[in-house]
Amino acid sequence: MNVKTPEVAVIGGGVIGCSIAYHLASEGVSVTLLEKDRIGEKASSAAAGMLGAQVESGFPGPMVDLCLASREMFPSLARELKEKTGLDIEWDGTGLLRLAGDPAEGEELRERGAWQREQGETAEWWDPKTLLRREPALGEGVAGGLFIPGDSQVSAPRLVQALARGASLTGAELLEGAEVRRFRCEGGRIRELETSAGRIHPEKVVFAAGAWSGILAEAIGLRLPVVPVKGESLALRWHRPLFRRTLFAKGCYLVPKADGRVIVGATELPGDTSPGVSAKAVHGLLREAVRLVPGLGEADWERAWSGLRPGTPDGLPYLGRAPEHENLWVACGHFRNGILLSAATGRGLADLLLGRPVPRLNPFSPGRVLAGERR
Ligand code: FAD
Ligand code: GLY
Repeated sequence: MNVKTPEVAVIGGGVIGCSIAYHLASEGVSVTLLEKDRIGEKASSAAAGMLGAQVESGFPGPMVDLCLASREMFPSLARELKEKTGLDIEWDGTGLLRLAGDPAEGEELRERGAWQREQGETAEWWDPKTLLRREPALGEGVAGGLFIPGDSQVSAPRLVQALARGASLTGAELLEGAEVRRFRCEGGRIRELETSAGRIHPEKVVFAAGAWSGILAEAIGLRLPVVPVKGESLALRWHRPLFRRTLFAKGCYLVPKADGRVIVGATELPGDTSPGVSAKAVHGLLREAVRLVPGLGEADWERAWSGLRPGTPDGLPYLGRAPEHENLWVACGHFRNGILLSAATGRGLADLLLGRPVPRLNPFSPGRVLAGERR
């Protein structure tokens, strides 16, 4: 490979890197995206595709605000990607039901609904009788549920492919099998990336390597703690649809997909980077799924898989310019919400790289790690 000199090199071809490349290329910026394996094959394809801004948020703050803003971007992003790439990301706005396993959890969910309504969102409490009338396939023993009509879903693998194709069609160069191994830094700038596919001299660099971002950061002496949190999921194929809304309970969630499958997820195993799926995980997920919806016992088995969520010690992603390297930006640590946050991350990072201020990303600055250590 000849030496390349793009304006921006994005490291990592998951949903985050692809979204950043898509938004930058759409603005005419020359971008090279470097992916060590194949685009979208890691956490981003393991995801269930929920855009669960409300269901995944236990308290108010900047994180839920960013999640809500990103969720709102999806209907128009879906149309735009369809027009530009021909790919349908299967945005589905049927809503999501957060189920309570007992009265104490019901109380917690009612409180959650109350602060979300104060923020202007819709969250309706359904008592057990209403719940069973509206979702008759549910088993017994559910103590009510919070219906969240605003939370939606997409096909995660299709979203990554559409963003990648959209980026490529608007001029981005996407390199697979290009692992970034070393950096040459000089005068507080990254001057060169040494990759398995050759050398690159970009003006600006973005770390978007998901659960591997901490390792990448170490290579330039930047502390960016990222904890891999393994998640295992499986898919069943039903003979007839038993429910339309996504069902989300403590032990598992059930996401009905447009192609007749139901995704059953997911375990959470911090620090486990093994690639397989354990028998224990499959057993536990199936047991919970059939307990919630007994009719799922008749569904056909399809497959199981796993992926590594990029977690951070304070639960917030790192989004913004890195400290101590003037041409480095970071976009990683999206943990359980990378699909949901991909829209706001791609748009926001593109704006930052183009020198536009994005105040809503301030709370996510990667500089908070260094600031915390100096205190
Ligand atoms: P990844 O998709 O992992 O991409 C990072 C890429 O960087 C990889 O392709 C990797 O090969 C590449 N890379 C690493 N190192 C290098 C290097 N040195 N050089 C070049 N390339 C490199 N989120 C939701 O919003 N909704 C959900 O319903 C949902 N469900 C989930 C279910 C499961 C089971 C799991 C595991 C996750 C789920 N998530 C969900 C979380 C979501 O999948 C992640 O937050 C998101 O995919 C992270 O995207 P990413 O691009 O940062 O990481
Ligand atoms: N957001 C769902 C998961 O990470 O499993």
